[in-house]
Amino acid sequence: MAPKGDQLVGRAVTAGVFDDALSELDGGRSGALALVGEPGIGKTRLLVDLAARADARGHLVLYGSASELERELPFWVFVDALDEYVAGLESRRVEALDDDVLGELALVLPALSRFEAGREAPLQHERYRSHRAVRELLEQLTASGPLVLVLDDLHWADAGSVELLGALLRRPPAAAVLLALAVRPRQAPERLTAALERADRAGTLLHVEVGALTRGEACELLGEAVDGAAATALYDESGGNPFYLEQLARSLAFERRAGVPELSPGDLDVPPAVAAALAEELALLSDGARGVLDGAAVAGDPFEPELAAAAAATSEASALEALDELLRLDLVRETEVPRRFRFRHPLIRRAVYQSTPGGWRLGAHERSAEMLTARGASPVERAHHVERSARQGDAAAAATLREAGDVVAQRAPASAATWFGHALRLLPDAAPADARVELLLLRARALVATGQFAHGHAALLESIELVPADAVALRVRLTTACAGVEHLLGRHEQAHARLATAMDGLRDPASREAAALMIELAMDGFFRMDYELMGEWAERALSTARPLGDRPLTAAAEAVLAFAGATSGATPEAEARRSQAATLVADLNDAELAERLDAAANLAGAELYLDRYEEAGAHAERAIAVGRATGQSEFIPLPYSILGQVELLRGRLAKAAELLDDAVEGARLSGNVQALAGNLGNRSFAALAAGDVRGALATAEECVELTRGLDQSLVCAAGVALAAALLETGDPERAVESLVESSGGDELPLIPGVWRAKWLELLTRCQLALGWRSAAERSSAAAQAAAAALRLRMATSMADRAAAAVELDAGHFDLAARRALAASAAADEVGAPVEAALARTLAGRALAQAGQTERAMAQLEHAAAELHACGALRYRAAAERELRGLGQRIHRRTRPGRIDRTGIEALTQRELEVARLVVDRRTNPEIADALFLSPKTVETHMRNIFRKLDVSSRVEVARTVERSEHAASRRGREAGR
Ligand SMILES: Nc1ncnc2c1ncn2[C@@H]1O[C@H](COP(=O)(O)OP(=O)(O)OP(=O)(O)O)[C@@H](O)[C@H]1O
Ligand SMILES: [Mg+2]
Repeated sequence: MAPKGDQLVGRAVTAGVFDDALSELDGGRSGALALVGEPGIGKTRLLVDLAARADARGHLVLYGSASELERELPFWVFVDALDEYVAGLESRRVEALDDDVLGELALVLPALSRFEAGREAPLQHERYRSHRAVRELLEQLTASGPLVLVLDDLHWADAGSVELLGALLRRPPAAAVLLALAVRPRQAPERLTAALERADRAGTLLHVEVGALTRGEACELLGEAVDGAAATALYDESGGNPFYLEQLARSLAFERRAGVPELSPGDLDVPPAVAAALAEELALLSDGARGVLDGAAVAGDPFEPELAAAAAATSEASALEALDELLRLDLVRETEVPRRFRFRHPLIRRAVYQSTPGGWRLGAHERSAEMLTARGASPVERAHHVERSARQGDAAAAATLREAGDVVAQRAPASAATWFGHALRLLPDAAPADARVELLLLRARALVATGQFAHGHAALLESIELVPADAVALRVRLTTACAGVEHLLGRHEQAHARLATAMDGLRDPASREAAALMIELAMDGFFRMDYELMGEWAERALSTARPLGDRPLTAAAEAVLAFAGATSGATPEAEARRSQAATLVADLNDAELAERLDAAANLAGAELYLDRYEEAGAHAERAIAVGRATGQSEFIPLPYSILGQVELLRGRLAKAAELLDDAVEGARLSGNVQALAGNLGNRSFAALAAGDVRGALATAEECVELTRGLDQSLVCAAGVALAAALLETGDPERAVESLVESSGGDELPLIPGVWRAKWLELLTRCQLALGWRSAAERSSAAAQAAAAALRLRMATSMADRAAAAVELDAGHFDLAARRALAASAAADEVGAPVEAALARTLAGRALAQAGQTERAMAQLEHAAAELHACGALRYRAAAERELRGLGQRIHRRTRPGRIDRTGIEALTQRELEVARLVVDRRTNPEIADALFLSPKTVETHMRNIFRKLDVSSRVEVARTVERSEHAASRRGREAGR
């Protein structure tokens, strides 16, 4: 950073912005701001000012910056900011974090690498875990006061840092953390710009344009040494850019010399006069100092003298001598760390680096790499020097880059992809084809994990070209992977054609490769919503796999077949297949299952459709566990999202929300829009069930937005989620529209399997809400027909509920009650407590109307208790409202607050509910929505909570609740051991 003595000129507005942001921090709230402006405009200088202001308030300030030539060091900006500080923390404070969190942090911060030992290898598709861990670390760092995390020169940040930053902006730490960022807009990578824009729109980031200084400010900056006329000329030339001003002013002091080597202003992206001024400044150096400065530019920014000396091919002693000259001329500056120096400005480093001859540069990078090797540096630290100096055919260099890629592939796949790419380029021509194929595969996988599908696709195509014709298994594996990426790209036709051609090209149609391809073709039918075709291919796959005696493959085929049956609504056949597949999967040990994880995942999918939530959950969990243990990252997202849906159906709403949040985060990171849309839809249902109506609506809207132009199956899912949320927010008309339009018409023909009955019930309610009785009757009849054809308890339950709603509306109370009770019994049978309780609430309403008050109360009480247990607060409140209407006083099943207790123990049940919603970062109006309370009542509860917990901010409320619930669950775990 700039020396502290430098006076800040102008920028009064920004100072106000900073003070406001810091006051927010003092109030316990997090924040983020980004200074955006061209090179040299004064962003870093402003960050220094912010840091000084924060410091004066006693805030902790940590500073990190990215660096131009070191762009592939994973999480570098964060490492730069946090690592040393964390290394110096008392271990007590570090170890206050969960083991899992520490294990994740070990993958990001070298200072914590000791916590990595003994952990399962991380997975590419679970990168959000590291992000969450860093968020928790930041929260922990605020234990003794607010934290300002300064991240400078973000335009050069590595992809891992950008992802992490994006995650922190999407979900800021629940503590007093201010992220202060500086970016050059024209050089920022697209993902960074997108993340900043998103946060800006969401209102979580303050965007501060940093513009030119005024003429008056420029004069002030230049000071008295520059007279008026000269100052005017400099201002005109610089356009008010302070770096330009300073550089031009410096050159006034230089003696003009002829023959100064020119710097290209274009390469430097500065005006010609500034480039000339820089060239002149560099020309003043002695040969020795210039050599070391050149070496430093290669070694890094910041750099160590030892490395600069190595790059410059000089002794350390002469490097130190040269360094004195460089410091005296203010070309480099000291940092807070001993033996570490920085260039005065990144533009100077760039100018120096650019002006060195290309051949010399190669040698300098080579020497740097050698020095690092001699010092025992990791391949990751050496990689960028190796990449810049190695020649094609250098097998050792290729190996180093491959190794570097391997090290970071799980947590920073974008960097890994770059290094695998360089390794490929360096590979000797004579290298065996499989070495190249392997690298291409690694690269493709890393690219796909970061949403770079087109590049991943290209790498796979290239690899297929290289595979010898007789390597059939490998060829099929690559073809399958390639088709998988085509699905991700939405090119289902192309995927289909590829698989079909591969099938035709197989010499042996009875081979295991053939069976594997048939399974892919079946899944291809699923993507295209052609469930019949899906079934046909699955059938063929099964009859091919079985005689081969390949148990994992047979299980996989059987599972797809079950899934096909379940989606097409052929329940008895599907059920028979499912049971077969379950037996086969149970017979596989983990190593065998690892060969065909899709067996467990598709089985779980089938079970989700077939009312078997318990089994679906168990199979999804097994797929996840085996996938993790065997590092098969790409197989995790599907079972993960199935598990989320299962938990939702089983009424474990908090768990479901957590799983689906993970699934959403994972899909965002991998750029998989299809998975993202699917998970957002389910996340919206989970929010709705928990009573977060606004959250549900916003999530569903994002989902609908995403699915424009995507596959029909996703359009359906999004339309349904939106409809459900719209009905709850009191817009049944749009709800009907959304349902009918997205799902192919009045009878929702495009919705597969059991879900059709379920969404027809929703449609019925929407129509009743609009007073469209005959339309509702038709929808209800369609639900009955669907249920009759499906013969599934859940479908029957939904059809009964639809009918009950229609009967109730028509004034047939007894009939309505009977149907509703049947609906709740059916939902109970399959273990869907929320659905059961909703049916029971309806029954209670009907019974009350029928004058059977006692029975009505019994049903409503039962419903309220069940909904309470599931955390379905809004639905519970609805049941209780009915009870109140019957003159029933609500006394909670759980304890009241206890006066003699402290902390959350002192809260009443209701206050605790409110406080938990504060943990979820809900606003008062949202809490009011969720609990069916008036905003005024929520305010009263909030006041009581503040008083009882002795806190003054929502953040503190959240922290207190989280801490004590965490402690309680830890005690629970320990007691369970
Ligand atoms: N308002 C100011 N008052 C005094 N000096 C300033 C001011 N703004 C910038 N400077 C000086 O101008 C030079 C360039 O500013 P700075 O390094 O902050 O630019 P930057 O926007 O961070 O550029 P880059 O994008 O290249 O990092 C520095 O020497 C800095 O101290
Ligand atoms: Mg800067």
